[in-house]
Amino acid sequence: MEFLDNLEQKIKLAGQWLDKYFDTKDNHQAVIYEAMKYSLFAGGKRIRPVLAMACAEIFGNEEDVMPFACAIEMIHTYSLIHDDLPCMDNDELRRGKPTNHIVYGEAMALLAGDALLNRAFETVLNHSAVVPAVTLEGLKIIADAAGTEGMIGGQVIDINSEGKEIDSITLMTMHLHKTGALIMAAAKVGTLVGGGTKEDVLKMEEFARYLGIAFQIKDDILDVEGTEELLGKHIGSDAVNQKTTFVTLYGIEQAKKML
Ligand code: IPE
Ligand code: IPE
Ligand code: MG
Ligand code: MG
Ligand code: MG
Repeated sequence: MEFLDNLEQKIKLAGQWLDKYFDTKDNHQAVIYEAMKYSLFAGGKRIRPVLAMACAEIFGNEEDVMPFACAIEMIHTYSLIHDDLPCMDNDELRRGKPTNHIVYGEAMALLAGDALLNRAFETVLNHSAVVPAVTLEGLKIIADAAGTEGMIGGQVIDINSEGKEIDSITLMTMHLHKTGALIMAAAKVGTLVGGGTKEDVLKMEEFARYLGIAFQIKDDILDVEGTEELLGKHIGSDAVNQKTTFVTLYGIEQAKKML
């Protein structure tokens, strides 16, 4: 129970700090802040920032991790806004609400995603309280995880594999990148900023690699047998888009065993 209380507290705290970093004035660009906040505060589970906070807590320094934890949540949210666009997965429900482009239009959704990516790095640069060398190392972890060798690389495989049969190695590479990368970055940056050694960072990265893959396997399973109420997104999206997933490649029972 103590663990659950602690978890609830971390989820709340992540939301409060995200809000703090979005203390923006209304101006002629108010709509972009509205669109960014719409998705950021739509009710995501906050798994990535909470993971970063939990790792930082293990090694002692939880508060300094907040700009990094929030940056990862902003990048994750941007990836979802773009993932839902008609040119990608074409989804209309996310976090229990109409997707960003349904509310603000495609152009503004594109810009809100771009702006969240930028805001992530601004947040760390403006608010990091740790020494410059650690700030730089943390930024590098996040930038690498978000880029072409990380989340974007995985999304490229995902999009290019639609309607095709892909092998198990390609599928694993896709999941490791599109979802694993940001989850691994959260664990690594939490450990680093929390005060862990290089060895600790490597160990937590290894742990988060399995967590990240498991997370996407579960997401694939839920796309088949979850409910809209529980997930806050339409189910069956993968089948409509002819995606290869752990379920299509291995079958649902085997996917559950692998999870
Ligand atoms: C959804 O991520 C996309 C995947 C990488 C599977 P989450 O399931 O963490 O989504 P939110 O943040 O809780 O909405
Ligand atoms: C999304 O994977 C991964 C990223 C956004 C990087 P999915 O396309 O399976 O995520 P959902 O199911 O739309 O949340
Ligand atoms: Mg997708
Ligand atoms: Mg999707
Ligand atoms: Mg999915």
